[in-house]
Amino acid sequence: MKLTGKTALVTGGNSGIGLGIAHKLNDEGAKGVIVGRDQQTLESASQELSGNFAPISCDVTDIEALESLFNSTNKQVGKLDILVVNAGGAVGAGSIQPFDQFDEQSFDAMTALNFKSVFYTVQKALPYLNDNASIILIASIAVHKGFPGMSVYASCKAAVRSLARTLSVELMSRGIRVNVVSPGTIDTPVFEKLGLPEEAIEQVKKQFTDLIPIKRIGLPSDIGNVVAFLASPESSFIIGEEIIADGGVVNL
Ligand SMILES: NC(=O)c1ccc[n+]([C@@H]2O[C@H](COP(=O)([O-])OP(=O)(O)OC[C@H]3O[C@@H](n4cnc5c(N)ncnc54)[C@H](OP(=O)(O)O)[C@@H]3O)[C@@H](O)[C@H]2O)c1
Repeated sequence: MKLTGKTALVTGGNSGIGLGIAHKLNDEGAKGVIVGRDQQTLESASQELSGNFAPISCDVTDIEALESLFNSTNKQVGKLDILVVNAGGAVGAGSIQPFDQFDEQSFDAMTALNFKSVFYTVQKALPYLNDNASIILIASIAVHKGFPGMSVYASCKAAVRSLARTLSVELMSRGIRVNVVSPGTIDTPVFEKLGLPEEAIEQVKKQFTDLIPIKRIGLPSDIGNVVAFLASPESSFIIGEEIIADGGVVNL
């Protein structure tokens, strides 16, 4: 129970990797808030977490909504020790397109979700973070490898990785550490959101798994374990760093 007494907020904590992270933080004794847009999954996730994480609905691409999110979080659970900025992805129409066809509307939507929201989630959280807090940003192995159609997503995640360095320097006087976790392929509802038939989803997962040196797909708990470590004092000498959790895709 290395996080007993700690208060955490996880964006996208109602699904997939974010829910896996919230489970691990909960197992380690933290309490707090999960954030998403879908009320139904927010409620069910909060119940799964024994009510230790209150569900708050917020569109993280809306900067004013972020301000009221942290305001009401503060009223409900007080100042935060752990901020996990996880909401994101490349699932909406137009998210994945060849570079030469990438339209401006899709570009703006992707950058709003995968970079701008990360930037402003941290900025708006700052007044409500305790000194010595731990901020963990979820990027992707797309920071390190080229995948066709992912030019905007990968650029956003690379920007997120970079942001951790600047923020680490700027927030050091408060003892706040900023680190990044870059997952490889993780089995989450993101695959169902691609709008493919069930068989095709399994096929896509298999194709990705075949590319993973340790020959298994990642689980949300694999990322939860890394985040809990970065949230805890066990990682107190680690700052501005990125941990890749991908079964060996990038390095082997
Ligand atoms: N799965 C993978 O293989 C993989 C690999 C590398 C990196 N990642 C990254 O890991 C993170 C989580 O992905 P996942 O696979 O767990 O996907 P997921 O199951 O689709 O979860 C995405 C989460 O983000 C939330 N979200 C999306 N847009 C939002 C918005 N505008 N405002 C508030 N919340 C929003 C969703 O909540 P609502 O639906 O309620 O809005 C949901 O909780 C993403 O940043 C993704 O890029 C995933």
